[in-house]
Amino acid sequence: MQIGTVKLANNIVFAPLAGISNLPLRLLAKEAGCGLVCSEMVSANGLVYGSKKTAQLMDTVPEEYPLSVQLFGTDPDITASAAQQAVRAGAAIIDINFGCAVKKIVKTGSGVALMRTPDKAEALLKAVRKAVAVPLTIKIRSGWDASGRQALDIAHMAEACGIDALTIHPRSAAQGFRGKSDWSLIGAVKRALKIPVIGNGDIVAAEDALRMLSQTGCDGVMVGRAAIGNPFIFSAILALLDGRKPSSPSLAQHFNVMKRYVRDSVRYIGERQACRMMRSRLGWFVKGLYGSSQFRKSITQVSTRAEALAAIEGYEKMLNSKAFSPEEWRSSERA
Ligand SMILES: Cc1cc2nc3c(=O)[nH]c(=O)nc-3n(C[C@H](O)[C@H](O)[C@H](O)COP(=O)(O)O)c2cc1C
Repeated sequence: MQIGTVKLANNIVFAPLAGISNLPLRLLAKEAGCGLVCSEMVSANGLVYGSKKTAQLMDTVPEEYPLSVQLFGTDPDITASAAQQAVRAGAAIIDINFGCAVKKIVKTGSGVALMRTPDKAEALLKAVRKAVAVPLTIKIRSGWDASGRQALDIAHMAEACGIDALTIHPRSAAQGFRGKSDWSLIGAVKRALKIPVIGNGDIVAAEDALRMLSQTGCDGVMVGRAAIGNPFIFSAILALLDGRKPSSPSLAQHFNVMKRYVRDSVRYIGERQACRMMRSRLGWFVKGLYGSSQFRKSITQVSTRAEALAAIEGYEKMLNSKAFSPEEWRSSERA
């Protein structure tokens, strides 16, 4: 898949996830083969007004190229200027958030609120388009209200503004994350546009990605929640696309990913903050595994890299000592 001038290795995308999809987690997705990773949403105002914490959300390294930096904003000039800042920080693609339904974002007129103010949205997209030469994309929902009928209008408007691709998560703002995403709308948007359309929503297993591609005709698929603590979903999707049967990671591969996550988090975020994050985040990787609740308890106080790695190694050793088959260590039933 190609987005504007940026050619991707494949059409599988790791979704922007606020508070979750930081550099260390994106690197795991990338290593598992995913073609495009996205930053979590970054406040255009925060960037322009010089917030260091906001700018850190765009931290990147060459291994994760191409990074799509997602901005949320309302003011055309501020968002355009933030987009320039993001490009200087290494963004290969700029994405504008048209989907966030969190009250404090919507209140400011950004996120999904842009879907009910198409004129403002158009002015914003035109300003950003003019300000940066890198590809520009948007990520939308099905709509603002329960009808979920704004997607096609917004998509047409955005394409006319010169965006290079569009992602749709076909749930309305009113729906939040409830119910099912309406994949038929992904197909409708795909058929209506010339630019690549990326489908998103409810890919929980690798097979779902193929189902979405074939059912909707979309150009690429974006995976969010199912990839949290499970970057292996990307290699599994790629295997299926290649006509191969996906192989589950070995115990060593699984635990190596966790160790890499700890090392990269310490490296890029600093030991103190990274270890505080590890206390809950390592739990993402062991969901459903034999003995996972005991492991979770063992990491609630970790405060150094060495302690975090020792906890992981201890857990790995315990599982190894049981000489389980892969099906057994993946099952919590005996825990
Ligand atoms: C915790 C969380 C944070 C999210 N943060 C963002 C975000 O920053 N920007 C965005 O466009 N979507 C965000 N989303 C929405 C996801 O990118 C995605 O559209 C949604 O989860 C549906 O895909 P999934 O079923 O594969 O998870 C977030 C979702 C969750 C659960």
